[in-house]
Amino acid sequence: MAHFTKANSVGEWFDQRLATTKFMKVMMTEYWIPKDVNFLWAMGVVLAVTFKILIVSGIFLMMYYKPDVNLAFDSVNYTIMQEVAYGWLFRHMHAVAASVVFLIIYIHMLTGIYYGSYKKGREMIWISGMLLFVTFSAAGFSGYMLPWGQMSYWAAMVITNLFGGVPLIGDALVVWIRGDFNVADATLTRFFMLHVFLLPIVIIGIIALHFYSLRVPHVNNQEGADIDFDAEAEKYLAGNKKDSKVIPFWPVFLSKDFAVLSVFLIFYFYLVFFHYGFAMDPINFDPADNMVTPLHIYPEWYFLWSYEVLRGFFFDIAGIKAFDLGLAAFGVANVIFFLLPFIDRDPEVLPAHRRPRFNIWFWILIVDLLVLTVYGKLPPTGVNAWVGFFASVTFLVLFIVLPFVTKADAKARGAL
Ligand code: HEM
Repeated sequence: MAHFTKANSVGEWFDQRLATTKFMKVMMTEYWIPKDVNFLWAMGVVLAVTFKILIVSGIFLMMYYKPDVNLAFDSVNYTIMQEVAYGWLFRHMHAVAASVVFLIIYIHMLTGIYYGSYKKGREMIWISGMLLFVTFSAAGFSGYMLPWGQMSYWAAMVITNLFGGVPLIGDALVVWIRGDFNVADATLTRFFMLHVFLLPIVIIGIIALHFYSLRVPHVNNQEGADIDFDAEAEKYLAGNKKDSKVIPFWPVFLSKDFAVLSVFLIFYFYLVFFHYGFAMDPINFDPADNMVTPLHIYPEWYFLWSYEVLRGFFFDIAGIKAFDLGLAAFGVANVIFFLLPFIDRDPEVLPAHRRPRFNIWFWILIVDLLVLTVYGKLPPTGVNAWVGFFASVTFLVLFIVLPFVTKADAKARGAL
């Protein structure tokens, strides 16, 4: 039985009791975080919480959802939205979380790129993160199909059609993915299975890998400094907290995380209650109809940049068909971020503001992704098509020049 001295506050009371558990002892004395990490380092925890919100709200939706082409639309738009008590709340929570999770994933990825957090022992963190990006994308895509509205149907049609471009086996592959010659009931039921069963399980496994690979090299810090965690922890435990470059995971780091998380949750629930429409396309409130193609088909906002890379190549070049060029560029866009740790040739971990050429590269990338996203939603005609073309070419060129840009920075610094 532990003996406690009198606590002066509720916080102290909790600290005393938590400190007696083995887990918390480890977190308070053995797990250290660099002191200078800012709010951007809370995005991982925000993602973990958003994923939990998706699971819980999804479980409630699954109680009334019907994976059948004749019933799906009504089960969502009438049963869940109008008949089930608070069904609308769970739908809005799920749809908004599905959209916001991508916003946070992009911030988390771009933070990693800005601070060079993907190299020197952190490659596995990056690669597991990219696997999360891919699996979340598959989950977003399969989930969007479930309400069986016009956009669900036609987006599924366009995306599954893309596999037809794979040499030799393309046509057979499309049929295999759809489970039918057309996007039909078999397609809906298999995407339902992926969305509610296989993908969540795989995601949970990859999150475990992501967290496990984080333990070894510790998280990066704002200056990319090599920190002697043992020596700095000694300083902290000896009472020299001010000079120490580290803080304990519990309660100091986690309280920072919780503060950011609280701000995020206020923003998130504000969207859920007042602006849920931003996560839903008006066209998707019309039931799927395979005889009526919507005037203009586009995916959710988070896929727009890669969709625009696909559409950007709208004319044949050197005898290669526009469709094949676009498809190849789309393929590259989806895997190129995996390769970042290997095509960044700078041996040092430093933030972009200390790598002048890379800094310019980084901000061009941000502007380019924004342009691609905006134009991905506009009809690809006239000037729009050309903006899309140049933005797509810029995206590809950025990754071709990256090894040279990063090498030049390292040379100028005398690191190579
Ligand atoms: C979607 C689910 C994800 C979850 C739950 C998650 C969770 C976390 C957590 C808790 C951390 C530690 C603290 C922090 O820096 O935020 C972290 C770090 C990291 N994550 Fe993720 N992450 C996810 C996706 C991704 C993606 C898509 C990438 C990029 C491809 C990525 C790359 C990284 C990197 C490079 C770090 C190390 C940051 C550093 O060393 O400073 N993560 N992640």
